[in-house]
Amino acid sequence: MKDTLKIQNHEIYISDTSVRTLASECSTPLYIYDLPALKQRMAEFKDHFVSNTLKTHVIYASKAFSCLAMNQLVSQFGFSLDVVSGGELYTALQSNFDLSRVYFHGNNKSDDELNMAIELGVGTIVVDNLMEAKRLVRFCENPKHKIHVLLRVNPGIEAHTHKYIQTAFIDSKFGISTLDTDEIKAVIDTIQTNSNLQFDGFHAHIGSQIFELDAFKAEIEKICQFVQEFQNQTKIQVRTLDFGGGFGVRYTDEDQPVEIALVCKTIVSEAEKQIAAYELSVEEICIEPGRSIIAEAGYQLYTIGDLKQTPNRNYIFVDGGMTDNIRPVLYQADYDFDIATNADAPKTKTVCIAGKCCESGDLLAENTLVQPYQTNDLLLVSSTGAYGYSMASNYNKLAIPSVVFVDHGKIIPIIKRQTYQDLIQRENLIDQDLFSL
Ligand code: LLP
Repeated sequence: MKDTLKIQNHEIYISDTSVRTLASECSTPLYIYDLPALKQRMAEFKDHFVSNTLKTHVIYASKAFSCLAMNQLVSQFGFSLDVVSGGELYTALQSNFDLSRVYFHGNNKSDDELNMAIELGVGTIVVDNLMEAKRLVRFCENPKHKIHVLLRVNPGIEAHTHKYIQTAFIDSKFGISTLDTDEIKAVIDTIQTNSNLQFDGFHAHIGSQIFELDAFKAEIEKICQFVQEFQNQTKIQVRTLDFGGGFGVRYTDEDQPVEIALVCKTIVSEAEKQIAAYELSVEEICIEPGRSIIAEAGYQLYTIGDLKQTPNRNYIFVDGGMTDNIRPVLYQADYDFDIATNADAPKTKTVCIAGKCCESGDLLAENTLVQPYQTNDLLLVSSTGAYGYSMASNYNKLAIPSVVFVDHGKIIPIIKRQTYQDLIQRENLIDQDLFSL
């Protein structure tokens, strides 16, 4: 169990708030964020991603958890925001986020999305490919402000992580290989035909849940080397480098992430070193953490329902499942589970934790250890703050649970639970005659 959690009367408290109170006031399943822990994590990024010689920006990758309140918090810390869709951009707009600090990513932005970004005055568009660059140039006739452009490149660093979250292998769908300098030059030449667009530099993101600092060092070195060769050939000035996100977090004791302070300091010092060594004109560096900001402050709370024994499994059924956390099914992701109403007992029970979806694979854990339990106990899953809510679905027409922040005993509602009415509100009943045979 995490050391930020407390146990009193066998029960877990998250930021001085008991799980029973959370369940009775907000019902389960429930997404919970420990606000002081989240703020502390954000402060670590703010304090340590700094340089004496370069401008530094932390850009929160909102895909990890995007909502109005989170964007407000990101703004409060002075971070920028990475969005990848019209929906995330709209969320930024509605949260009154300063759109000049928004970076618009994505490998297939639609015409509507590009036009929306231009109209709203998004600060930076991260272009993925030549076709996108051509469309951007066409659409960007009369923007409110000059739009900054970064080009996503693929430096070919293969980080050791699940294959679905690797992004920089040679055939990745993202960006243009740094080996393909002709294509990169064509994109920049295209951008530079439009004086409303300003080409600033390059972006790369080598994957997610990466533990080895060496992977990030290799990325930085590779990009700086590429920029030097590219500048020599083309005389195109590069003032910004964005190294992406992907910093690993602790889901279970098996994960031993490097402290964020050290991650930040290593990236800054490596960038300072390589930029000087390759004599680059770069003035500004960025990182785009998503998971490492939000994952560990997040929890999910379920009520244990029926129990079942099969020849080889002790099933615990919970009132949610793959609809509120798809990660165990999709990436075989492991989590720490606690019987939150019997948390000081030793973990002696080997169980299979199953959700309620009509899908045999709907397991949160196939084989994990928990404290002794009974029906109606509460089950807490730790480190679920990233890509849980944001990947939630309505499979089986299950309602997406609510989200709360907890702050020293106070419960702050962030997102309401969907209602049954919400589930059908975009559906039409049609004229029965259409079905006549
Ligand atoms: N920047 C770019 C361009 C990205 O594509 C991503 C993540 C990030 C930043 C943030 O990466 P992070 O710091 O969160 O690792 N759904 C998967 C993760 C997909 C990540 C996609 N891109 C999961 O649940 O593990």
